[in-house]
Amino acid sequence: MRYLTFALGKGRLAKQALATFEKIGITCQEMKDKDTRKLIFVNEELKLKFFLAKGPDVPTYVEYGAADIGVVGKDTILEEARNIYEVLDLGFGKCRMCVCGPKEAQELLQHHELIRVATKYPRIAKDYFYNKKHQTVEIIKLNGSIELAPIVGLSEVIVDIVETGSTLRENGLGVLEEVCPLSARMVVNQVSMKMEHERITKIIQDLKEVLAEGGQ
Ligand code: PRP
Repeated sequence: MRYLTFALGKGRLAKQALATFEKIGITCQEMKDKDTRKLIFVNEELKLKFFLAKGPDVPTYVEYGAADIGVVGKDTILEEARNIYEVLDLGFGKCRMCVCGPKEAQELLQHHELIRVATKYPRIAKDYFYNKKHQTVEIIKLNGSIELAPIVGLSEVIVDIVETGSTLRENGLGVLEEVCPLSARMVVNQVSMKMEHERITKIIQDLKEVLAEGGQ
């Protein structure tokens, strides 16, 4: 039996992914050691390997088959647009992709004005404004702390992730429009899905059952 390799997006998602996998008997003791500098973890018994990667790199590893399975946010899947199968909504990491800004900017979204939109997600922003709203905008790519942009006058609005809404509130901004709901998803390499069909569909099925039990 060959190893099945999992790529997990670093951080909160990875922790929750491991907790979910544990419920279906997929464990990786090695990975729980907080002080480890190891990059790849093995469960010899189940013939599984796990590694942590930056979120936006997870779809890349999965597309090229360096990982058979990935766990990553829907935002990253949409933004990276890789050739991979999205097979399951894991139900955690729930948040929303939104157009946000000061209240005054609401008006600018209604009249097809040429506005500036700052975002870490240029593909998602472009798709939303060009294909859904048919509004021509200038998209400015940023790498973090997106909420700064409308405050310092870089852009009129932003497209960003909203979870609790507290970052917006504390900075005098609000949600103006919702682009789409987000959560963690399981993704699979297209060749692995065929070559390891039985093992992978069993994992998907088992996960579906524990998710259903959890009221997801
Ligand atoms: C994300 C997002 C918002 C914030 C939303 O940023 O970009 O800034 O979380 O969460 P809230 O609605 O609960 O306040 P993250 O912390 O990932 O860092 P970033 O600003 O570097 O993208």
